[in-house]
Amino acid sequence: MTYDTIEVAPLSPVIGAEISGVDLAEPLGNQTFAEIHDALMTHQVVFFRDQELTLDQHKAFGRLFGELHIHPAAPGPEGHPEILVIHADENSKHVAGNAWHTDVSADEEPPMGSILHLHEVPKVGGDTMFASMYAAYDALSDTMKEFLGGLTARHESEHVHSRGYVSRAGKLRDGENAYPSAVHPIVRTHPVTGRKGIYVNSGFTTRIEGLASGESRALLDFLFEHIATPEFQCRFDWQNNSVAFWDNRCVQHRSVWDYAAVRSGHRVTVKGDRPL
Ligand code: SIN
Repeated sequence: MTYDTIEVAPLSPVIGAEISGVDLAEPLGNQTFAEIHDALMTHQVVFFRDQELTLDQHKAFGRLFGELHIHPAAPGPEGHPEILVIHADENSKHVAGNAWHTDVSADEEPPMGSILHLHEVPKVGGDTMFASMYAAYDALSDTMKEFLGGLTARHESEHVHSRGYVSRAGKLRDGENAYPSAVHPIVRTHPVTGRKGIYVNSGFTTRIEGLASGESRALLDFLFEHIATPEFQCRFDWQNNSVAFWDNRCVQHRSVWDYAAVRSGHRVTVKGDRPL
């Protein structure tokens, strides 16, 4: 792929690329939008530096990729229900995303992508790790691929979302009276690239359907360890006003809580479709 309006520098041979030459606060031309989309499809997670974004500019960038998702349990700032606040400081007892996961996978139609803008980060530490679920799938034996291809797994969210987020006074997303829970295939096919990836994660996936509980636990433990293989990963070193945009259909991520300082920003999440 050649890029005419942006520069794209891979962070690893497998996953992640830094994009420069674009100001996300400005309306993007069709060509630039198409190139960012292509880079995301190729590298699965893309990063931008030095982006000063208001909440409205952040949302406008997200809306280029689809309708915005509303988090089931976390309220946005006044007037911005589509914004997820990410904040930690020296008093935090919990930080967002500190285990391998793909965002809100317990939704029936989990988000396609997430766009995180951090405006203040620690001087050192507070990286985010990303893992390619294509690479994790490709590394399995053909026998394991075939076995997993026939299986589905339950994803639940109450154990994750009932703690850590400032709740909407105990209320969930409009009209919902239970934390989301859904069954998805263990191997999903990406609707754009057609590539297969593993779609279970240690944050939300609680059991494999149709297996005895010991079998389910053993297989999930194997997959959770497998997806965290360093060769499938890249690691992003944030600066103030960096942006990370990951494709939840083929990427898992994990925040690294090795700091006692302010790390603060906002996430916009783009709606997706039912995993197939
Ligand atoms: C998240 O899971 O969206 C948060 C990731 C991070 O804070 O690095």
